[in-house]
Amino acid sequence: MCGIVGYIGNKEAYPILMNGLKRLEYRGYDSAGIALLNGQPLLYKKKGKVNDLENYISDSIISGQLGIGHTRWATHGEPNDVNAHPHTSEHGKFIIIHNGIIENYARIKEKLEIRGVTFKSATDTEVLANLIEYIYIKGQVTAEIAVRLALSKVEGAYGLVILCVDEPDRLIAARKGSPLVVGVGDEEYFIASDATPIVEHTKSVIYLNDDDVAIIKKDELVLKTVKNDKQTPIVHQLDLDVGEIDKSGYDHFMLKEIFEQPKSILDTFRGRVAPDLSGLNLGGLFNVIPQMVKAKRIIIVACGTSWHAGLLGEYLMEDMARIPVEVEYASEFRYRNPIINMDDIVIAISQSGETADTLAAIRLAKEKGALVLGICNVVGSSIPRETDAGVYTHAGPEIGVASTKAFTTQVTVLAMMAMVMGHKRGYLSDKKYLGLIKELTEIPGKIEKILVKSDACKELATLYQRATNFLYLGRGYFFPVALEGALKLKEISYIHAEGYPAAEMKHGPIALIDQNMPVVVIATKDKSYDKIVSNIQEVKARNGVVIAIVTEGDSVIRKLADHVFEVPESNIAFEGLLTVVPLQLLSYYIAVMRGCNVDQPRNLAKSVTVE
Ligand code: M6R
Repeated sequence: MCGIVGYIGNKEAYPILMNGLKRLEYRGYDSAGIALLNGQPLLYKKKGKVNDLENYISDSIISGQLGIGHTRWATHGEPNDVNAHPHTSEHGKFIIIHNGIIENYARIKEKLEIRGVTFKSATDTEVLANLIEYIYIKGQVTAEIAVRLALSKVEGAYGLVILCVDEPDRLIAARKGSPLVVGVGDEEYFIASDATPIVEHTKSVIYLNDDDVAIIKKDELVLKTVKNDKQTPIVHQLDLDVGEIDKSGYDHFMLKEIFEQPKSILDTFRGRVAPDLSGLNLGGLFNVIPQMVKAKRIIIVACGTSWHAGLLGEYLMEDMARIPVEVEYASEFRYRNPIINMDDIVIAISQSGETADTLAAIRLAKEKGALVLGICNVVGSSIPRETDAGVYTHAGPEIGVASTKAFTTQVTVLAMMAMVMGHKRGYLSDKKYLGLIKELTEIPGKIEKILVKSDACKELATLYQRATNFLYLGRGYFFPVALEGALKLKEISYIHAEGYPAAEMKHGPIALIDQNMPVVVIATKDKSYDKIVSNIQEVKARNGVVIAIVTEGDSVIRKLADHVFEVPESNIAFEGLLTVVPLQLLSYYIAVMRGCNVDQPRNLAKSVTVE
């Protein structure tokens, strides 16, 4: 959730940290701070965005070759200067930044207060800083031992980077549940909560595992566990370019990511679709395909947009492979004692690969003996490391908080999985299978055709930017698209929006419809086309405003709806990949016109690593 960055080496740390914070700001943006050690500790923190921090520091002389930085998404304590990270222990020995939640912080705080320790902030992080210092001073131990002993007493999740003023030649980092990546340079190390601030400096990285503690000097990294067992660091090479984390001339990351979708889907295909379109090869699932084909049931777990992709996955897999599929919110699944059998397959979907609820659902499913597969975007993140097998979407970094290309690439992977299973189970004939492959590979080109018409979405946005409510309706494959359209609008423009199965409208939401209510209907030609036409008529009969997403050349709905946006025709199973694009664009333009911060909507963070 929050962003963490650290540096130790021979260069000035400040520009590296400040640049790193800018890269990480998508993870949290209610306050930010930086601390350096240069003889004396230098500490600056400020409520607001990283720019506010930069302006606040601007006149100061800030120098040092060792430092840490943090951008926060508040969990404990309101966003203000005092609660911003880094936090300093009472006697100033330790300065720490933290991502995650210390669940037993209240008990620890009480015990420390009894012993006379005082606190400045309302955060769990300051409690941890003081616990470390208390052990350090009382026990007369090294900083590393104090950190490890303190961590053995805390419950919850943490990604931590710690400075000790008495040991100014090192950073101490620790991970449990919140990711940390160490970049390995030449006589320098970088540390961050994800690779985006590291990639411009080095491509060699070490992913910390849960319970790891790293003691990092500029020319040495020692890795051990909280219990002091030595670990061997494994260096991986990042497959990420700096260009992928720039806006590349677009006004916002979200717009760039919407326009990247044709390329992202092609990247999802890469190495998986035979060049002559004669088959699909999901390498990451190679060993588990026999089990998948025999599965009695598939349970998909995910959150937010990834959950919407999962819902489309249900329709695809039941339709093509005839396997029963259940789609669960990971946060509900993990706490409701679900029935999971040994021959069930659980598929976790996550862009970030770090969503706490999805990770917990995976762990539960594994405990119960299910085969657990992952569909993730961020290579090396926790979910792919904890699942038995899986498929990367290879969408490239998604920085905009509102997911766009993550959704379409997840649906692409789910479609490929459904097709492979359907073919192997005999529900898709060779002819049907090959026909579907061909149609799926045509999707990127069809999205290009939609993107060319983005101005039409801008015009619609001009007309409806002031609406206070929106309804999104779709049937079958388009119900998840309706949900996703509504989520996109509400999260970035703060307009209330609901997605509904079109036929459900008359069971309640129809009461909301009047001349002020734009109703977006996904109404491409399929077997329930006539029914959706009737739904549109029902809206019009109540003076609702209809914006319809229709198949190219549609003449019936054109006469009924107030506005139509045409998408190219495709196999109905893949049209979710097309119809979602104008909905993404509509939300984007409305949010921009309302003056909202599209890439960093209020109260949200890109990856939700707390439950
Ligand atoms: O990284 P994940 O896919 O696991 O994230 C799940 C949700 O937090 C995410 O999709 C969220 O709903 C987005 N803001 C939607 O745009």
